[in-house]
Amino acid sequence: MTPKRTKPAQTPALDVSKELRIQKISAGTVVDHITAGYALAVLQILGITGANGEVVSIAMNVQSQKLGKMDVSKVEGRELTSDEINRIAMVAPNATINIIRNYEVHQKQRITVPDHVEGIVRCANPSCITNRERGITSRFAVVERTPVTLRCNYCQRVTSHDNIIAQLLGKSQQLAQQ
Ligand code: CTP
Ligand code: ZN
Repeated sequence: MTPKRTKPAQTPALDVSKELRIQKISAGTVVDHITAGYALAVLQILGITGANGEVVSIAMNVQSQKLGKMDVSKVEGRELTSDEINRIAMVAPNATINIIRNYEVHQKQRITVPDHVEGIVRCANPSCITNRERGITSRFAVVERTPVTLRCNYCQRVTSHDNIIAQLLGKSQQLAQQ
């Protein structure tokens, strides 16, 4: 018997499929260029656990021409609000938000971390007036963008990136109730 051979004509098709790490989606949001390792943090900020049947694909630590390594999250059937995008900016300051409709990129928004941040996180200083008195919204100057680090406008205390992440991931429910 002659051994079976792979047809040479199949090779280009295989090469193309290698580039498509995650399938395209028909409708929803693709969060692209997420800082490597933060895809799960992005999903947590969006309150996605998988338990409610959300259709989500993620790629972590994949090669990107712009960023070296990056993560990608694709959330089907959901378009993010500006509030959600502002929170994502704190953990993935270089991300791109692509709204997908009918398989096409309907809208592309490159995240920009503003010069000032209001109300997304709390000041790290427990004695800060924004933590002690109700009704005062936190206000920070952005001192570093990658990773995001904030300085309080009221007490000048620096809130570190780790603290910001801990707040957005650990206490997101609590913050949302305020
Ligand atoms: N995408 C998707 N489903 C679609 C269309 C696009 O999942 N129906 C994804 C792509 O895989 C890519 C992102 O959405 O991760 C943005 O798509 P596109 O703008 O076509 O890619 P790029 O030009 O590479 O984007 P950028 O310039 O922002 O890197
Ligand atoms: Zn403060």
